[in-house]
Amino acid sequence: MEVVVVESPDEAAGIVADIYTSLLTRRPDAVLGLATGSTPLPVYKELIRRHREEGLSFARARAFLLDEYVGLPVGHPERYREFIRNELEQHVDFTADAILGPGDLDVPPTEAGGAYEEAIGQAGGVDLQILGIGTDGHLAFNMPMSSLASRTRLKTLTPRTRQDNARFFGGDIGQVPTQCLTQGLGTILDSRHAVMLGFGRGKAQAVREAVEGPLSSRWPASVLQMHPHATIVVDEDAASQL
Ligand code: GLP
Repeated sequence: MEVVVVESPDEAAGIVADIYTSLLTRRPDAVLGLATGSTPLPVYKELIRRHREEGLSFARARAFLLDEYVGLPVGHPERYREFIRNELEQHVDFTADAILGPGDLDVPPTEAGGAYEEAIGQAGGVDLQILGIGTDGHLAFNMPMSSLASRTRLKTLTPRTRQDNARFFGGDIGQVPTQCLTQGLGTILDSRHAVMLGFGRGKAQAVREAVEGPLSSRWPASVLQMHPHATIVVDEDAASQL
């Protein structure tokens, strides 16, 4: 695990965009793992800038989303697939159908996990997985006590997560879906390079537990200690407890 401490999210975005640029230059048909949440946004912004100004191309790349709510209609602004469309896909040159989320498969949610794992496998696995981290150390929707070996599966969202995310649904927890599909921690471990970002003091404890704590399902992001190639990029606030 390598830890890079930066001064600002913009500096982090430059470093992480360099990782994408180097991968896509070597392997234009790379498989990318995309995350939602506010944390990856500066990276997506920088990738869009490089596409427009420097010709960085995603035309041959494919991508898989980390997670998705269950039960939101296609086109709902809070669907993670829609988030990725708005924040990255429509601004660059991915081909149609190059991006797949766990909620995009034509199977019932109970079967989506296995089908999604199969789709990732058929694509050859994820080359570069970008990740945010929850204040409780969660990765994707793998909350504390998730199995470190877990695979993509249907999960029930905890009241705390639904409450945290209610702000995106007009403050009404009743509008927040009760279930989600999420890649497992074992799925994330299979990516060839995982880059986890954390910004702000609110993430400091989770970052410390992920990097320096014992490997434990109590802090799901600590699973990255087992990853063969993990890069942690944090600002000084998020690194303040290291
Ligand atoms: C959600 C997502 C996670 C994300 C986390 C942190 O729970 N499922 O993938 O890492 O939020 O969000 P943010 O980056 O906005 O702090």
